[in-house]
Amino acid sequence: MDCFEITGPNRLQGRIRAAGAKNAALPALAATLLAEGTVELTGLPQVRDIDTMTRLLEHLGTRVERDPDDLGTLRFLPSGSTVSDDADYDLVKTMRASILVLGPLVARLGHARVSLPGGCAIGVRPIDQHLAGLEALGAKVTLEHGYVTARCDRLVGNRFRFSVPTVTGTENLLMAACLARGTTVLENCAREPEVIDLARLLTRMGAQISGAGESRLEIQGVDSLGGARHQVIPDRIEAGTFLVAAAITGGDVELEGSAPADLAPLLEALAGAGCTIDTGPSSIRVAAGEPLRSCSIETAPHPGFATDLQAQFMALMTQATGRCSIHETVFENRFQHVPELVRMGATIQVDGGYASVEGPTPLSGSHVMATDLRASASLVLAALVAEGTTVVHRIYHLDRGYEGMEEKLRTLGARVVRTTE
Ligand code: EPU
Repeated sequence: MDCFEITGPNRLQGRIRAAGAKNAALPALAATLLAEGTVELTGLPQVRDIDTMTRLLEHLGTRVERDPDDLGTLRFLPSGSTVSDDADYDLVKTMRASILVLGPLVARLGHARVSLPGGCAIGVRPIDQHLAGLEALGAKVTLEHGYVTARCDRLVGNRFRFSVPTVTGTENLLMAACLARGTTVLENCAREPEVIDLARLLTRMGAQISGAGESRLEIQGVDSLGGARHQVIPDRIEAGTFLVAAAITGGDVELEGSAPADLAPLLEALAGAGCTIDTGPSSIRVAAGEPLRSCSIETAPHPGFATDLQAQFMALMTQATGRCSIHETVFENRFQHVPELVRMGATIQVDGGYASVEGPTPLSGSHVMATDLRASASLVLAALVAEGTTVVHRIYHLDRGYEGMEEKLRTLGARVVRTTE
């Protein structure tokens, strides 16, 4: 297993480019199952979740062509008729987003069997809304032996209201509705930029969608979808992580190729913490505030503060003057980084969905354990300012979603090496 050895303190300075968004790329890959022509996706990040989803598509019968000169481009060729409708446990267990193949498979083939993804480190993460939505479109859904089976002749458009705005749930239903007969209206949808990007790809494939980015989506079903070329949007969570890295290290970092509007709540919080923010049409520069000030946040579905940046912001707050409150409202168990940050010297108290952080506290190099993707990122950020060497174990979590993180950190002047335990 690989780990990072980070020797601090570091001050990050320089310019880097954001990778393509993992959470936009995953539904885009799933959407290729709907197409009767070739779909070419560019700007795909080189991260493990994308490899896993690609393998799942290959397992389902898609032919995938790689471009040896551009690893971020993949071409998905339909195999005539998809060979398999069966996403088995071995592929699904490593990545919850595999559930995204359910909607496209039922819509295209009229049947699908996908392993239930199970719980994960950040919470129970049910998929009841994905299933209720498919049932509203006429699929017969059964749960048996850890698998979801969905069947229908052809999905039929309907009105469905999500009880919570779920990102992959909205994406699953959006994809399914594109091939349903008639009109589907989805209410209380997730409004994340990644949902908008998926709608853009589907529209290029011939889908008729209105309302992308709003909580009400209307989809006029079509008989078939064709090929398309599409570039996935930049990764706002990766970008946000590096901007927080600039702030926590007293540094000055410019992120190229990232959309400031998609990161507005983080930029507001960084400004509240005393940082200086400069934005261009597709660039963001953060210069750390001296001293950093405490700033309370509350996570919420987009356009609120992203839960995927909560752990990183908490690491920053350990270096800010004063006490702040961090309220996690999206997932019930997303404070797993707290005990590890405390082991490095942070003063944090957790009470239900609230964490209270008191700073600034000096952090010292320690052995810490990554538990999930974003928790791992927060430990890396803490390690950058900690005195001495921190070993972040189990960074396979990071490799799921951050492309070449250590190289990017080194470009900005950090002392980071990857070693094998
Ligand atoms: N929920 C339900 N029922 C459902 C679906 C969701 O109750 O059927 C609840 C969840 O338990 C949670 C809330 O709704 O409390 C929101 O969860 P959501 O479904 O939006 O999460 P997701 O679609 O499984 C995506 C991202 C996550 C990100 C969340 C929230 C992808 C592949 N994953 O997950 O990304 O945290 O949205 O923004 O898009 C990450 O990249 O590290 C990551 C975990």
